[in-house]
Amino acid sequence: MYSDLAGKTALVTGAGKRSGIGFAIARKLAGCKMNLVIADLGRTALVGSPVATGGWEEMQVLAAELAADHGIACLPLPLDVTSADSVAAMAEAVKGELGPVHVLCNNAGASFGVPNAVHTYDEAAWMATVDVNLHGVFRVAKAIVPLMTGAAGASIINTASRAGKFAPLFNGAYACAKAAVIMLTKVMAKELAGAGIRVNAICPGQIRTDLEKWRFELEARFFGTTPEDREAAMCTTIPQARIGTTDEVADLVAFLASGASAYITGQAINICGGQLMEL
Ligand code: NAI
Repeated sequence: MYSDLAGKTALVTGAGKRSGIGFAIARKLAGCKMNLVIADLGRTALVGSPVATGGWEEMQVLAAELAADHGIACLPLPLDVTSADSVAAMAEAVKGELGPVHVLCNNAGASFGVPNAVHTYDEAAWMATVDVNLHGVFRVAKAIVPLMTGAAGASIINTASRAGKFAPLFNGAYACAKAAVIMLTKVMAKELAGAGIRVNAICPGQIRTDLEKWRFELEARFFGTTPEDREAAMCTTIPQARIGTTDEVADLVAFLASGASAYITGQAINICGGQLMEL
């Protein structure tokens, strides 16, 4: 699918964990014969979050698997989007090894300090959440856009969230950061249109990953019930009555990466089984 992507290079952040949306995106783009950089923390824990992260050993296994299965180049690189030095080192390595970047997927994300109301939120946890989800996109875009200019038909896809459009309970820092990612997307789309770079955001609803599992576990503790009950309750709010898959999100990203979406830029596209419908 999307043969126009073949032989081009994509960078996906937060792609170092088999169960995550990032790896599903990388696998889908590998299926389009793109050469890949899968960038992730390269360590298996984050202070303040029980959600597993992309560890270095797993990243190497996943990169080797994509390269062998799809006959592409796939480079795993350690990256902490909250560190300008780490982002700069990653960009240097990309430039040296794979050259121009055609597709950038800013997918890395995390949430700290939940559940909490805004007025009880720990300040450091708030700042850390905004730093990963918003400033991380800014830092990576700043470092990688110079490697994209001149790459005909280039595309940036930022992972926002339904939470960036519809206020969730007790997850304010994440929601504010994702809303800002949507605006950042629109600003960049205007700024980069003249350079031939399209910029769009995706807004997933409920997608089955470690992050989603953690959410149902937190809610279960909060409401004194089970994660299964919370998931069932959530599904009653989704017209399609089910949790989405990482592969379905990856299909949308591949479409936005390819020339099939050539006239789409500055949009924040929902993928949520109809949970959010806007005019
Ligand atoms: P996940 O927690 O399974 O994966 C997130 C990935 O980001 C991990 O591989 C982690 O190591 C990486 N990461 C975290 N902090 C990082 C940092 N400082 N630098 C580099 N990498 C870092 O989460 P999932 O569900 O795969 O989420 C992917 C994206 O989709 C995130 O941006 C998330 O906010 C967003 N999202 C997910 C939804 C869901 O239902 N799963 C819904 C809406 C948005």
